[in-house]
Amino acid sequence: MSHEVVLIPGDGIGPEVSAAVCEILEKAGAPLRWIERQAGVAALAQGGDTLPVETLDAIRCTGVALKGPCTTPVGGGFTSVNVALRKTLDLYAAVRPVRNLAGVASRFQGIDLVVVRENTEGLYSGVENEITPGVVTSLKVATDAACRRIALYAFRYAKARDRRRVTVFHKANIMKLTDGLFLRVAGEVHEEFPEIELETMIIDAGCMRLVQDPSRFDVLLMENLYGDVVSDLCAGLVGGLGVVPGANLGDERAVFEAVHGSAPDIAGKGLANPLALLMSAVMMLNHLAETRGDEACRQAAARIRSGYDAALGEGRRTRDIGGDLDTAGFARAVIGHLS
Ligand code: NAI
Repeated sequence: MSHEVVLIPGDGIGPEVSAAVCEILEKAGAPLRWIERQAGVAALAQGGDTLPVETLDAIRCTGVALKGPCTTPVGGGFTSVNVALRKTLDLYAAVRPVRNLAGVASRFQGIDLVVVRENTEGLYSGVENEITPGVVTSLKVATDAACRRIALYAFRYAKARDRRRVTVFHKANIMKLTDGLFLRVAGEVHEEFPEIELETMIIDAGCMRLVQDPSRFDVLLMENLYGDVVSDLCAGLVGGLGVVPGANLGDERAVFEAVHGSAPDIAGKGLANPLALLMSAVMMLNHLAETRGDEACRQAAARIRSGYDAALGEGRRTRDIGGDLDTAGFARAVIGHLS
């Protein structure tokens, strides 16, 4: 059995990290067939839209994609490729596991948390208006249906993975209707999961506790903008953006991508850490194993995970996490540890 998967190399460091990851996946025997499609500036350069219909159709067809970061050009009326992709394909749950890795320095140990972010509404709905010159507004949207499905996702995820607690970050003291709805619905959904603890925190206090004692957190549930910001904060707790993977999941489709962006400051220099995209690919293989019952995917995922753990354990790292390897050098180190 092999699985067709859409590969979007992306922009900036995207093509570099994607090439490294594809090589590792191949050497690990991952049963995948790539269908390469473009998005972002790379798609514009080919004369298309930033999110071409062929790319969307390919993901609708395969159901699964691995995506490098895409640059959204500033100005010029371009909407974010990433926001558009998630909304168009209804990838409503962003899941970002954050944990310490052996050999990666961090101010804290014992971190093993998961950020579950609502991916389709909130302030990222893109409803902005100029009321009059000098006065602009942005509409924050919350719907019962979207709040309910992301809460359900978070509690089901916690239950399936033997996690103990879901902590909701909110600002319902100020945004009484929108965050109030998010909070109330999370409480209602929790009634179906009595074995899991529900904790609620106003987000400012929650962020303080995150940087004081992150190991106390388990599953974090929040709306779109908060999840975007808190994901990067959490990445910083375990070594940075180079080591945190992510998945955008809907009921029928899934797009796996790192939390980081296209890093134009280091693009083309061989400095990018491919680990975050590699870890996202491992999540993708486990997703394929779960949804299609393919044990070969689970085995390839396990092989890659022990490969990068072993490489990191003996100090083989890229510069962003204190090592001296370039992108390809780290890929070779992982490949050298595949059993
Ligand atoms: P960024 O995540 O690209 O970079 C922030 C900092 O982290 C930079 O100093 C960069 O060099 C470093 N960094 C990021 N990934 C790294 C890696 N794998 N290895 C080593 N260092 C790494 O965030 P920034 O600069 O705010 O955004 C740049 C572009 O990326 C923007 O156009 C933004 O819209 C886009 N972006 C795309 C995302 C996606 O496609 N999912 C997510 C976030 C941003």
